[in-house]
Amino acid sequence: MEKLIGLKKIKTAIFISGTGNNLKNLVKFSKKIETPISINLVISNTNKAKGLLFANQLKIKNKVFNFQNITITEKNILKLLKKEKIKFICLAGFMKILSKGFIKKFNGTIINIHPSLLPKYKGLNTHLRAIENKDKFAGCTVHYVNAKLDSGKIITQKKIKITSNDTTTSLAKKVLEEELKLYPAAIMKIFN
Ligand code: GRF
Repeated sequence: MEKLIGLKKIKTAIFISGTGNNLKNLVKFSKKIETPISINLVISNTNKAKGLLFANQLKIKNKVFNFQNITITEKNILKLLKKEKIKFICLAGFMKILSKGFIKKFNGTIINIHPSLLPKYKGLNTHLRAIENKDKFAGCTVHYVNAKLDSGKIITQKKIKITSNDTTTSLAKKVLEEELKLYPAAIMKIFN
């Protein structure tokens, strides 16, 4: 990954589909002097994503793309990314799978946060699967995005103990708390 040149921050887009806790946190992080990225664009696949409200409040450019035709949609997203000079993409609760072609165009500069200790529990319902399997630990992972779902090179991970009274809700809450620390840490690791 290219080094941060001078004080210029790397223009970054965040892709969301939901609440946007990670988005909010990354925006907060991006405003610190020592942070290597600036958040210049938010992309969502649904206008129901609560994170969009936050983007609007903070006047961060945002756009909703309907993924009915992925080829056309990705072409339009790429056009917008180019126009906004975006060089780095963080997926944060983005529920669509990007095509191989799209990923290739942003080779090595798309990262994702996933609520499990990858390579365990790729895909959905990670907390339920960990509890049902009576795992002792859950966690979260930040990884590069490649053509295979949740399979790119791991940048960093955080392990969390699962207690006997944990439910999917309590575990999700604990994991999210750690995600909010892990995502900025992963970005610092990449650019340092
Ligand atoms: C997080 O648990 C993240 O790991 C997963 O989706 C959730 C996003 O939450 N990919 P939010 O939209 O950032 O609140």
